[in-house]
Amino acid sequence: MPKKTIFSKDDTFESKRLYFRSVKEGDGELLFKWRCTPHVYEHARTAQAPSREEHDRWFARHMNNIFSVRYIIVEKSSGSELGVVACDSDDEHCELSYYLGEPSAQGKGYMKEALVTLFNHLATQYEIGRLMAETRADNLASIALIEKLGGVLFDEYSAENFVWRKYQIPLGKKGGA
Ligand SMILES: CC(C)(COP(=O)(O)OP(=O)(O)OC[C@H]1O[C@@H](n2cnc3c(N)ncnc32)[C@H](O)[C@@H]1OP(=O)(O)O)[C@@H](O)C(=O)NCCC(=O)NCCS
Repeated sequence: MPKKTIFSKDDTFESKRLYFRSVKEGDGELLFKWRCTPHVYEHARTAQAPSREEHDRWFARHMNNIFSVRYIIVEKSSGSELGVVACDSDDEHCELSYYLGEPSAQGKGYMKEALVTLFNHLATQYEIGRLMAETRADNLASIALIEKLGGVLFDEYSAENFVWRKYQIPLGKKGGA
């Protein structure tokens, strides 16, 4: 059984166009804004924007959870913060999540670059061998992305009025983005 992974809360790494930094205490407001953006919450399990209270409780739990890591994706050329990639580990597996909070950043290959880079980082820094990712079956962009990155369909089920797909993604050192 894989052991829980303890993550550093002060990490940075980069790819060709992007820079990644761990989420910090001061990022609560930015994450609240993104989590309240329709294209982000519509694809989340809750399918609705969090209240301020719910968000603050969630954010505090995240900051205190050493088994969980979130990175802000920053566009190097402009310094703009674009979105989040995250990994939450428990005794069973490590769960991937990701979104571009800024709609204008979509469709430019940024998330593919971000995930290839994150996968290399998790494999080399934390010796994580595979991730699980869940996505709604009608989220075609997310499914295309996961399958292009080697995700293998593990399960499909209905919950909260939607069909969900669970993918297993084997990690290994892949070429840098
Ligand atoms: C899903 C999401 C992360 C994709 O990010 P992105 O940066 O726009 O995706 P990319 O530009 O890196 O595209 C990756 C690949 O998926 C393909 N793709 C992107 N959108 C697609 C779509 N709507 N239909 C089919 N393929 C699509 C691209 O062609 C690309 O493949 P290629 O490299 O062979 O050309 C982004 O749309 C998003 O944040 N959506 C809202 C939140 C969300 O759904 N998060 C996932 C929850 S599980």
